[in-house]
Amino acid sequence: MAKKIVVLDGEWNRPENRFKYCEALEDGNILFFPTTPFDFPQEEISFLLQQKQGGSALRKNIAYKPHVDQITNHETRDAIAAEKLKDILRSYSHRVSAFLQAVLEPYSKSWKLDYASFRPFQEKGRKLRLRARNDLLHVDAFPTRPLHGARILRFFTNINPTENRSWATSKGFAQLAQEFAQEISVPQSVDYGLKGRLTRKVMQFLQSTIVKVPLRSPYDAFMLKMHHFMKENCRFQESAPKDYWEFPPGSCWAVFTDQVSHAALAGQYALEQTFLIHPSALLCPEKSPVSVLERLSGRNLVNPELLEQVFA
Ligand SMILES: [Fe+2]
Repeated sequence: MAKKIVVLDGEWNRPENRFKYCEALEDGNILFFPTTPFDFPQEEISFLLQQKQGGSALRKNIAYKPHVDQITNHETRDAIAAEKLKDILRSYSHRVSAFLQAVLEPYSKSWKLDYASFRPFQEKGRKLRLRARNDLLHVDAFPTRPLHGARILRFFTNINPTENRSWATSKGFAQLAQEFAQEISVPQSVDYGLKGRLTRKVMQFLQSTIVKVPLRSPYDAFMLKMHHFMKENCRFQESAPKDYWEFPPGSCWAVFTDQVSHAALAGQYALEQTFLIHPSALLCPEKSPVSVLERLSGRNLVNPELLEQVFA
């Protein structure tokens, strides 16, 4: 079960703590910052609190994509407001990244800055299709962007001026995978034979066209199945042991969400920045989900070439 590791001002940049926070994260814990540890102008927060989410109800958040400097799923009728929203999310992305370069220095040389998101809806009672629900325990997996063993590290900020963001967490990935491996079925290994190579070439070609077919490794397939299995499993949702966490206004927290089973039970107005962490940067790679699964199955579940493409 996850523990909350409180990071106090002035602690995180001490040389003796250089590896401490990465180790805590890889042990499946939550790094908690009681106050926002970087500048966040009140004017920007006030603007965000006025925003509504537009677009499809199937999409969950307003996203900022740093590599193309674009936002998606926002209210597009007001172009000036959309530009301002993008500026604010870009600034948030930069600030989080600059701050974590110091706190999580062992990761920062090789991490990939992924999407940032703004979550303007109240999570409590939110109507979403079952697999998209945030209030059910799950581990994160990307359905359309396979990771080939790259880790999902997420940093959150509660910008709600008065309301906590409430989470529940349960057992860590290693324990859950052990319990559910029979029911979810351990994936087939990477096929290095001619047929497997040809299949990948065809899939890669399709990826380069307008036909978007996710090229999932056996690891990605398992993680997605596990995500769905957990959310669809009423018995697990009801009977799993749970810890409850409150993240007050202005606080921040970081967690490997592919490892720590979590549910966002309540709260409105949060920001989040995702980092993809290369397995070679991990201090304890044997604790990562892909290593756990490879030990369980006795099989090789990712193709290193495709992992490198994630970070290209
Ligand atoms: Fe999640």
